[in-house]
Amino acid sequence: MTLSEKVKAAFEKAFPGELFDSVRAVPATDPKFGDYQCNDALKIAKKVGLKPHDAAQKVADALEGDCFEKVDVAGPGFLNLTVSPGWLAGELETLAKAPKCGIPQSGAGKKVVIDYSSPNAAKQMHIGHIRSTVIGNAIDRIFRALGYDVIADNHLGDWGTQFGILIKGYRDLLTQEERNNLSVPVLEKCYVLSAARAKEEDGVWREACKAELVKLQQGDGENLALWKKFIDISIAEFDRMYAKLGVKFDTYRGESYYNGVMPRVVERLVKMGLAEESEGALVVKLEDEKLGVAIVRKSDGGYNYTTSDLACVECRVKDYDPERIIYVTDARQQLHFKQWFSIARKMGYSDVQLVHVPFGLMSYQGRAISTREGNLIKLDELLSEAKRRSLEIVKDRGGDEKLAEQIGYGAVKYSDLSHDPITDIDFSWDKALALEGNSGPYLQYAYARVRSLLSKAEGFAAGEFLVSTPAEKRLALQLLEFPGAVVRASEAYKPSVLADYLFQTAQLYSSFYQNSPILKSEEPVRSARLRLCSLFGEILSTGLGLLGIETPEHI
Ligand code: ARG
Repeated sequence: MTLSEKVKAAFEKAFPGELFDSVRAVPATDPKFGDYQCNDALKIAKKVGLKPHDAAQKVADALEGDCFEKVDVAGPGFLNLTVSPGWLAGELETLAKAPKCGIPQSGAGKKVVIDYSSPNAAKQMHIGHIRSTVIGNAIDRIFRALGYDVIADNHLGDWGTQFGILIKGYRDLLTQEERNNLSVPVLEKCYVLSAARAKEEDGVWREACKAELVKLQQGDGENLALWKKFIDISIAEFDRMYAKLGVKFDTYRGESYYNGVMPRVVERLVKMGLAEESEGALVVKLEDEKLGVAIVRKSDGGYNYTTSDLACVECRVKDYDPERIIYVTDARQQLHFKQWFSIARKMGYSDVQLVHVPFGLMSYQGRAISTREGNLIKLDELLSEAKRRSLEIVKDRGGDEKLAEQIGYGAVKYSDLSHDPITDIDFSWDKALALEGNSGPYLQYAYARVRSLLSKAEGFAAGEFLVSTPAEKRLALQLLEFPGAVVRASEAYKPSVLADYLFQTAQLYSSFYQNSPILKSEEPVRSARLRLCSLFGEILSTGLGLLGIETPEHI
């Protein structure tokens, strides 16, 4: 029984017949109030017709078992709980033996689609793509760890007007040599040149691009083959980045996949009376919900992003029947998601929970990132630079390229994941690679240090947990919170909740380590402390793993 469950049972015993589902014991904000506190007596006092203090006292009297050393009713009716060392040791033992560091398998039997990264084809991934990829992948890992059946879907931008421009440019602007050695940078150049010509006054080039697009949309063999070639080259290039980042997708169903489904979706919208004509376009009015008007078919007959996402949800529900679909994109798309989520609900998709996880903008070393600023750093370059800088740091310690990648890529990921996704963040090399403070390398280093300590000790496994000093107790209580931190991160769709937890844990470990001799202490304390170190190492490594960050044994 968890601590919260024990407290809940005491509420139920004190006030029979009432339900107390939301009762929780949470870690105390200040150790001088005990280890845990519960404020629920204040909330329920009215309901049970008592003064809050008296209600809390009644619960305190009903609390039983060997789990608490001390229970105080403080202030207007706070319950301050101090756990007993015996209970704590038992809980640590259970946690140490539990598979996956005690992460509950609450997602077992539930299917979730996570749509993330989703870059546009024929362009190199740049620093702006890092957020969706890294945040999405951490959410993916967290949900898998909770036992969910996750389908990681890369919703590539692989359809649309840009392909008319690209095909025209490929035919008439590239050299034979470039055509033979097609790569994403060549495609990018091709697009830029062709798009510039499409702006010419006479409109001849623009019309030619449009004609290529129409041919592609009508299934012309040659254009389809070219399009397919562009996509294959793009995916190969994206995969090179994903391999570096340790990111894997179950499927790459891009926008093109839903192309044939869009007319049917629009027909349904019309039939259901949800869409109506407006200035030649077909729109869904959402003004009642203050969401404006969403176009689902443009006046030229073409479909748009909204139509494509509606078609996509239809396919995902049909093919996977997930309980939830999670979309990780930048915050500028919030209105888009609110609009089409609302339309989807009206179309009857009410069983599937649609979740948008928006993230803020990223700036680089204090400057906004934009093509115009000329600092649209390529993801590839960012990762190479991360590796180069890390190599500088680790080579004096005998570290190799592999270690430099683990630290460099980990630093890039952590500098993003340690922030609430919705905040705008500034990427700075000094902060990302700092060995002190809230950084990836700091946590990796903490792990390597605990592993090195453990390798110096032999034969401690037999020892029992035994918690005596305050620093030890703080660390032990924190370790018990790991499964809860993973659950909270998943509920909030914020890997930062887990990152915060891990950083706090590492700090508590550090003060424990500084205050308590380990290898030099006497048995049974020595073994007990080593086991606490070992559990800390396991939790740190598991937690960082959920953020997609590797934990080398030596740094
Ligand atoms: N390709 C889009 C972009 O680059 C992201 C797609 C997100 N997924 C979706 N189903 N709309 O911003």
